[in-house]
Amino acid sequence: VADVKGGGDEGAAWVGRQLAVRGWVRTCRAQRTVTFVEVNDGSCLSNMQCVLTPDTEGYDQIDSITTGASVLVEGVIASSQGGKQKVELKVSKITMIGESDPTSFPIQKKRASREFLRTVAHLRPRTNTFGAMARVRNALAYATHKFFQDNGFVWVSSPIITASDCEGAGEQFYVTTLLSNSAEGGCLVNNIPSTKDGRVDWSQDFFCKPAFLTVSGQLNGETYASALSDIYTFGPTFRAENSNTSRHLAEFWMIEPELAFADLNDDMACASSYLQYVVKYILENCKEDMDFFNTWIEKGIIDRLNDVVEKNFVHLSYSDAVELLVGSKKKFEFPVKWGLDLQSEHERYITEVAFGGRPVIIRDYPKEIKAFYMRQNDDGKTVAAMDLLVPRVGELIGGSQREERLDYLEARLDELNLNKDSYWWYLDLRRFGSVPHAGFGLGFERLVQFVTGIDNIRDVIPFPRVPGSAEF
Ligand code: 4AD
Ligand code: MG
Repeated sequence: VADVKGGGDEGAAWVGRQLAVRGWVRTCRAQRTVTFVEVNDGSCLSNMQCVLTPDTEGYDQIDSITTGASVLVEGVIASSQGGKQKVELKVSKITMIGESDPTSFPIQKKRASREFLRTVAHLRPRTNTFGAMARVRNALAYATHKFFQDNGFVWVSSPIITASDCEGAGEQFYVTTLLSNSAEGGCLVNNIPSTKDGRVDWSQDFFCKPAFLTVSGQLNGETYASALSDIYTFGPTFRAENSNTSRHLAEFWMIEPELAFADLNDDMACASSYLQYVVKYILENCKEDMDFFNTWIEKGIIDRLNDVVEKNFVHLSYSDAVELLVGSKKKFEFPVKWGLDLQSEHERYITEVAFGGRPVIIRDYPKEIKAFYMRQNDDGKTVAAMDLLVPRVGELIGGSQREERLDYLEARLDELNLNKDSYWWYLDLRRFGSVPHAGFGLGFERLVQFVTGIDNIRDVIPFPRVPGSAEF
């Protein structure tokens, strides 16, 4: 259907041609002599309007052509009399493939709430919003690979199971599995392999040490950047943060480029060009779906995204951001003070109110609120970190220049009481041919939120994983 409707003339060039469409019935309207069946095959937002008459082969099955059923329709494309579409399919034959009981099919024509659709996540891709979301998400993934590949980055698969906590926030999901339940005295206590007397006995664990689902592929990414130069990862990451917000998932996809022989300025330039590239790609290649979001989900989103592509991003230091927030005299829920982390309300105020909806990059955060691997600035108080904030979503990207100096990194690990031995391979990168390098992580679902205007992160991933819910 996308091939027919996507040519710019809404299919006019196809008039007179034979077509077979396989898809799912959206609606069926019977009139006295003709029946209109709207069929969607998922290739685009548009349905194919199929016109059936009593002469149509298979017309005797008309009663089973109900919303949700799958059908094969064959016929000839003709100009449509109705105003809604340029062309329709005059059906010579319709074949029922899979019936759909109209009394129990949960997705009916009337608009269902996003909350309800989460309870039928296996069927929600059959709606306009989720079909469009899935196509735009796919296009964003394609554009991501294209951007990095065209710029000479190598895609690296970072492991999903790991023994290191990259962000040091203690938000990992444990992966512990007893090798054998019959092993002497083996049992699980608080999900950790233990002996009967309560001692931790890692020898009975599959990995012989605590292992987690990764919170970030960065540390592994740095190893390949220290050999291949520019690389990126793009894979699932996991965080057991117990936050029920519209911006957090327990399982989300992250894009993490790592640039060798690069500093924070290179990192910020890469983040800006990447974001502008993918947004432009979507505006040019997902027009029908973006028009839908512009009309039904967030009015004006296309203009806003055009601005993102055309205008420079705002740059601001953390200290200036704090000054701006304090000077705003606005009553925030959380306090604003040098040394405290910025909360989502602060981030949104900065991009939405102070800078009228432009993306803002904040740099040079206090080292106490950032991860151990960030490069210390000469002032001794801040690190070469950056966050990229966008309207509605807040933090879209977090990144930094990495500490490439062995003595500084070891001192920082000590300061934070982190076990240097377990970072031996990470420290090796600083022992053997260390180079200045920098990178960032972009939360893919937050990007989908930003581009589609869909306000809850649970509605931009096929099967959201959040506290209390891992259905489907
Ligand atoms: O700021 P974060 O924690 O940075 C890192 O993980 C670095 N290791 C990245 C790097 O430098 N390679 O996470 C990066 C981004 C955030 O800006 C946010 O967009 C997203 O990941 N993110 C989440 N998205 C959805 N749900 C969550 N629970 C998220 N936590 C972070
Ligand atoms: Mg962050």
